[in-house]
Amino acid sequence: MKTRIIGTGSCLPENVVTNDDLSKIMDTSDEWISSRTGIRERHLAKEETTASMSTEAARRALENAGVTAKEIDLIILGTVTADHVTPSCACEVQAALGADRAVAFDINAACSGFMFALNIANAYLQAGFYKTALVLGAETLSKIMDWNDRSTCVLFGDGAGAVVVRADENSGLLAFDQGSDGSRGGVLACENRTNNNPLVDTSKDLAYIQMDGQEVYKFAVTAVPSSLQKTIVAAGLTVEDIDYFALHQANIRILQSVAKRLHVSADKFPISLDHCGNISAASVPILLDEMNRKGMLKPGMKIAMSGFGGGLTWASAVVEW
Ligand code: UT7
Repeated sequence: MKTRIIGTGSCLPENVVTNDDLSKIMDTSDEWISSRTGIRERHLAKEETTASMSTEAARRALENAGVTAKEIDLIILGTVTADHVTPSCACEVQAALGADRAVAFDINAACSGFMFALNIANAYLQAGFYKTALVLGAETLSKIMDWNDRSTCVLFGDGAGAVVVRADENSGLLAFDQGSDGSRGGVLACENRTNNNPLVDTSKDLAYIQMDGQEVYKFAVTAVPSSLQKTIVAAGLTVEDIDYFALHQANIRILQSVAKRLHVSADKFPISLDHCGNISAASVPILLDEMNRKGMLKPGMKIAMSGFGGGLTWASAVVEW
């Protein structure tokens, strides 16, 4: 039995902010941002929330799969920017969809969140506990950006992506790899609420995302090719067998470097970061949905996916479409 992706959906906030728009409110330029990252614009939420975008992405994925909300057994949502500490965003999506049979929970693996969620859903389906699952990655990163720090705030965007997976006898997820290195967590970090009990000094300000970009870059260009290689071999395939590499969208230079290290053409690495920026856990499912709706994904194709980032964490999977 395999875990097959049978539908995809995504949702981006209405509001588009270009690099030129940012250069009017901070000391940056389209030239710096696009040449260093490949990002030209991003969508930033105004009215939208992590839950509202997730719900819309989920509706579109269910419609694409031809599955009703009542058929969902499991909802797993990767995010670091849920709207509430509790209830989880997955529970909010469950309520909004009326998916009342489903068990729902969030997971935090930062930019690997969707891939970790997919692998957890796969384990449940393989074990025979559930048949149909909704797996999401969703973020409103703009609320945890330091808008006075041009080295991070120009990189990120908001949005949500979703897939419907179902246990299938023929095609589906062939292999996965995942890992964590908490000892290097400080290179990409964001404080949560601080302790304000009467015993603690509460003078500390709420902090926003802080990133040592060069360290994260070095991590990505070594961990990702190695994880992809491992996963492709575990699937009984070679790099040449892979039709597309759907990777987390952090920086076009990372994608080009991974392509070079794997000795494959960069044309096999579709891109959404030019119009979305980096949307952490949402990057991979949004990219998959764009590929799916453009008709790029045909039955039998082999797609390698990989997410990487805060934690540090990384996760890859190879699926037969
Ligand atoms: O999703 C999680 C995974 N995240 C990633 O994978 C991010 C990986 N890292 C990167 O993509 C790159 O390291 C960045 C795009 C974040 C930064 O690129 P970089 O080539 O490492 O630039 P840098 O941080 O070394 O900064 C170079 C210069 C600095 O100026 P000086 O010190 O050389 O005078 C920065 O102050 O660029 C300056 N700078 C900017 N200039 C204009 C930094 N941000 C900006 C900006 N506009 N927005």
